[in-house]
Amino acid sequence: MHIRKIRKALEGIKEYVPGKNIEDAASRYGIDERDIIKLSSNENPYPPSRRVIEAIKSSAGKINFYPDPNTKKLYGVISGYTGLPEENVFVGAGVDGVLDTLMRVFIEAGEEVIIPIPTFSYYEITSIVHGAIPLFLKMDDNFSIFSDEILKKADREKAKMTIICSPNNPTGNIFPKKELIKILDAFDGIVLLDEAYAEFSNYTYIDLVDQYDNLIVLRTLSKAFGIAGMRVGYALLPEWIKKACLKVATPFSIGYLSIEAAYASLNDLEYLRCVVDKIKKGRRYLEDNIPFKTFPSEANFVLVDVSPLESSFAMEELMKKGLIVRDCSSFRGIGKNFIRISVGREEDNRRVVDALKEIFEELH
Ligand SMILES: Cc1ncc(COP(=O)(O)O)c(C=O)c1O
Repeated sequence: MHIRKIRKALEGIKEYVPGKNIEDAASRYGIDERDIIKLSSNENPYPPSRRVIEAIKSSAGKINFYPDPNTKKLYGVISGYTGLPEENVFVGAGVDGVLDTLMRVFIEAGEEVIIPIPTFSYYEITSIVHGAIPLFLKMDDNFSIFSDEILKKADREKAKMTIICSPNNPTGNIFPKKELIKILDAFDGIVLLDEAYAEFSNYTYIDLVDQYDNLIVLRTLSKAFGIAGMRVGYALLPEWIKKACLKVATPFSIGYLSIEAAYASLNDLEYLRCVVDKIKKGRRYLEDNIPFKTFPSEANFVLVDVSPLESSFAMEELMKKGLIVRDCSSFRGIGKNFIRISVGREEDNRRVVDALKEIFEELH
């Protein structure tokens, strides 16, 4: 029976904590589901473009076939959108799925993955699952971290990978390009740059992909493109890494309808721009009007320091008012006073500001 056990390495992993959902809030506080707004998972508050919905409808009758994961048309449209050749594109089931594939490609048991924190918690989970040892580096009070510190850690024989998230979740800030270049120049291992929120930002470093053979940039259609439910993400990467990804990727990992939806949404960039514009305006409104301290964001969410309140209390108070936000205390290294609010539609953002003003006034 000693064999009937999960792997030892998994014992210490805490389950990934997603943002709370609408049903949780409705049943907990007896609120009508229609009055609840979910701003806890950095989803797009707007529905996908009409072209996407039509593409899904018109291909629904073909799902008796397996999808072609290397479909030329999806690779072609991503190549057109990013300006990189298809040889430098690898598509997977969301950034999460692509991350798993990359871990399978690179990690030998016991190798180290450098992770500046606080950040997206799946990096830690997938590293451990694949036998790596995460090395955490804490950002400073402004959530900055410098290449020197990272390179000091990276100067270890077993440091295989460094993961940088820019804009970073949950803090919203950018990792400076010159710092990234210093790491790329000096680090022997692989640099994973997660740009899941790039479309909301003025910064992207995909131009570096063809200059470095150790840089991988991750992108998703879950955020700005608004098709989180379809689970499509991609990596921009050197060709030698793409070849290895194709060897180990789960067969048929992206669904037929997901491929069609991704293709349609990448072909409607006007809709993308319109949605991104509205979200940036909403972000500005939240940053300017939330009475607690906020941090400048380049993403579709805003980090709020609710001190002296604890984040769990602030989250519950907002939930009572029908607003679901993210209590950040489950993010390693951020402490107990931060909540993260995804930018919603105009009326949602107004509700958030009004609710936080009420909470703030009760304090003073
Ligand atoms: C930084 C970051 N990377 C990746 C993801 C997941 O992306 P996907 O939906 O493409 O798996 C998220 C989701 O919140 C995220 O915040």
